[in-house]
Amino acid sequence: MAKVLCVLYDDPVDGYPAKYARDEIPQISSYPGGQTTPSPHAIDFTPGELLGSVSGELGLRRFLENAGHTLVVTSDKDGPDSVFERELPDADIVISQPFWPAYLTRERIAKARNLKLAITAGIGSDHYDLQAASEAGLTIAEITFSNSISVSEHVVMMILSLVRNYIPSYGWVVKGGWNIADCVERSYDLEGMAVGTVAAGRIGSAVLRRLKPFDVRLHYTDLHRLPEDVERDLGVTFHQSAADMVPSGRWKAGSSPGMQAMSGSPSPHRATTPGAACRIMG
Ligand SMILES: NC(=O)c1ccc[n+]([C@@H]2O[C@H](COP(=O)([O-])OP(=O)(O)OC[C@H]3O[C@@H](n4cnc5c(N)ncnc54)[C@H](O)[C@@H]3O)[C@@H](O)[C@H]2O)c1
Repeated sequence: MAKVLCVLYDDPVDGYPAKYARDEIPQISSYPGGQTTPSPHAIDFTPGELLGSVSGELGLRRFLENAGHTLVVTSDKDGPDSVFERELPDADIVISQPFWPAYLTRERIAKARNLKLAITAGIGSDHYDLQAASEAGLTIAEITFSNSISVSEHVVMMILSLVRNYIPSYGWVVKGGWNIADCVERSYDLEGMAVGTVAAGRIGSAVLRRLKPFDVRLHYTDLHRLPEDVERDLGVTFHQSAADMVPSGRWKAGSSPGMQAMSGSPSPHRATTPGAACRIMG
């Protein structure tokens, strides 16, 4: 029987939700491109409930314990005295999340003699020493596409919040002000601007699709060019590199693994010279 060590972020400081804003969530059966969403035989939690924090336990406790496995859940993941470090040596499976990652360094992998599988409950593998994992025969798994659309919606939200100066303006309202000039002095329409994305994989192309109706000029760079019909449908212009894209980009969002591609970008200083104002969002 396996020991599953699960690292999750802490519960809300205001307490675990007693009720939720919605009593249902939309049924999504497939992602763009046709990949289907997970289709378990049964679930024993209510969709939409908070499962990602410690008390939610990813909805796994009954499922695992009924099958005879052990589940240890903690948010305490850093340092030699952490619960994670103490529980790791006899764990068979580690589960953690991209935003609250349990780092599996070479040293930790060496200590984890039983470890066979490390799962990211989401997407991202930056918190694993992949070379050490490979040498140890450890399987690293993530849930492809599981939150790519969430990230693309977030990117659109950030672009709109920034271009409209929303967060500083909200700050004025919270302070009790109605300082219109302070709010609008850096507030613009996105319409007509050029927006570029560094990488057009699942996230990047979802960002492009979502921004198309805003009547912007879309640009992208990627190691692999999108199919011609997709480029035509989106009205998006391809560039060989992030640096090539800047003269045409007022907005630039990065969604490539590790953001290496952004390293080819001009510095924000150069990108903000008069006449070439460009905001970079990673
Ligand atoms: N933290 C999170 O919750 C979270 C969620 C989703 C995605 N992510 C991360 O965001 C990144 C993108 O996710 P995705 O789902 O779109 O992945 P994806 O694999 O669908 O797309 C990645 C794209 O990046 C391109 N690319 C790779 N290296 C490049 C380079 N040097 N220059 C230009 N393009 C390059 C690839 O060709 C590919 O099209 C991944 O690193 C993923 O781990 C994180």
